[in-house]
Amino acid sequence: MKKVTVSSFARRKAAGENIVMCTAYDAPFAKFALAAGIDMMLVGDSVGTTVLGFDSTLPVTMEDMIRHTQAVRRGAPEAFLVADMPFMSYQSSLEEGIRNAGRLLKEAGADSVKLEGGAEYAELVSKMVLSGIPVMGHIGLMPQSVQVLGGYKVQGRGDAAVAKLIADAKALEAAGVFAIVLECVPEAAAAEVTQEVSVPTIGIGSGRHCSGQIQVLHDLLGLLDFKPKHAGRYAEIGELVQQALKNYCDDVKNGVFPADENIFTK
Ligand code: KIV
Repeated sequence: MKKVTVSSFARRKAAGENIVMCTAYDAPFAKFALAAGIDMMLVGDSVGTTVLGFDSTLPVTMEDMIRHTQAVRRGAPEAFLVADMPFMSYQSSLEEGIRNAGRLLKEAGADSVKLEGGAEYAELVSKMVLSGIPVMGHIGLMPQSVQVLGGYKVQGRGDAAVAKLIADAKALEAAGVFAIVLECVPEAAAAEVTQEVSVPTIGIGSGRHCSGQIQVLHDLLGLLDFKPKHAGRYAEIGELVQQALKNYCDDVKNGVFPADENIFTK
């Protein structure tokens, strides 16, 4: 499979072709996602809530992100991989942000990084891009700011908030991002932002008029009890897993497993 490049995403937007993304955190699921035709995968800091058992993304470390990105890379060598910059890996200084972004490319095998924030991070984004690191922006609901936002709430309601989203998107575009995630923004506001920039917008909970969509893998597959309103549910894998493990427990307890075919006779 031919590996996609950052410039191909802007062409896709111009041609009106929807871009499809999902998150991935490990090798087996990355392999499935690649085979399914996902255009790019995000090793999200949502690994904190989906896989590591935290109740927010704040505890996720650079080491977590490197480990999981390496695993996804092994599972999907040809995929275009975006790795999230975790909380406090870029907020404290430009130098630290650039060094950590570089680690995600050099040590973890990502093709690009994503960071949460608007115009206030334009200088950092521009320095990363100048250093050779492709960057995806992320505005709207920014889960790393959940404490400041007072919860996971829809963003971009009202004229002033929409104007701020547009200003942030334009500042990120001018700084050199190749795409922007718009999380939990009303559909009309997301459509306006999408029209105002030439780089693609990738929506999650932001309606139908973004240039593409991203979903959290565990939401898509039904691996978590909690189902956000915006999430597409394409399978109930959690229920299958629960039933399979119950069947295994019953079989061992009842002496049905191991069976003849599971036994070495010599
Ligand atoms: O970490 C993540 O999964 C994300 C998506 C929600 C876009 O940032």
